[in-house]
Amino acid sequence: MIRRATISDIDEILSILEPYTKEGIVLKRTHEEISESIDHFYVSETEGKLSGVAAFYTYSPLLVEIRSLAVRKSFFAKGIGKRLVNKIIHDIREKDSRVKIFALTLAPDFFSKCGFVEVKKETLPEKIWKDCVNCIKQNECDEIPMVYAE
Ligand SMILES: CC(C)(COP(=O)(O)OP(=O)(O)OC[C@H]1O[C@@H](n2cnc3c(N)ncnc32)[C@H](O)[C@@H]1OP(=O)(O)O)[C@@H](O)C(=O)NCCC(=O)NCCS
Repeated sequence: MIRRATISDIDEILSILEPYTKEGIVLKRTHEEISESIDHFYVSETEGKLSGVAAFYTYSPLLVEIRSLAVRKSFFAKGIGKRLVNKIIHDIREKDSRVKIFALTLAPDFFSKCGFVEVKKETLPEKIWKDCVNCIKQNECDEIPMVYAE
């Protein structure tokens, strides 16, 4: 089941993200940051436990990023990641079908299965790179920009 996250999910969301933020695969988010943008977070529940998380960030009315996507390792390859992404896309496009939805990712094959295509970095506005200052990789960025193309 995919649902909107609530404040009481934050500790579990952090525990899902933690192994990947340590590896530098997902950008670190604090309890406070998640709390401030809890309306932008979705979680998946499997067997009564949170199995995954994903969020979106609105840069402008027509530009939205999918971010903080992570599934617990024990729940990999069950379609949970794809369902989280699909749900966010559905909810965003339901409001406005023109919205450009993108991701910066180290899992391009997963995102291409979700209907995204790789684009050149320069095709996305400069402001989306503002979070790089918080990233452990800084200018060694190896993330691939991808845009939803369906
Ligand atoms: C990427 C991630 C969210 C995928 O979650 P998941 O629930 O295992 O993925 P799904 O089961 O929904 O997979 C959907 C499809 O993508 C494929 N896929 C999943 N992960 C993949 C990967 N890392 N590389 C290539 N293909 C992948 C699956 O085989 C499946 O293909 P199918 O539709 O043909 O069966 C999960 O591996 C994860 O949390 N990784 C660590 C964090 C991360 O990389 N986040 C994304 C950074 S933006």
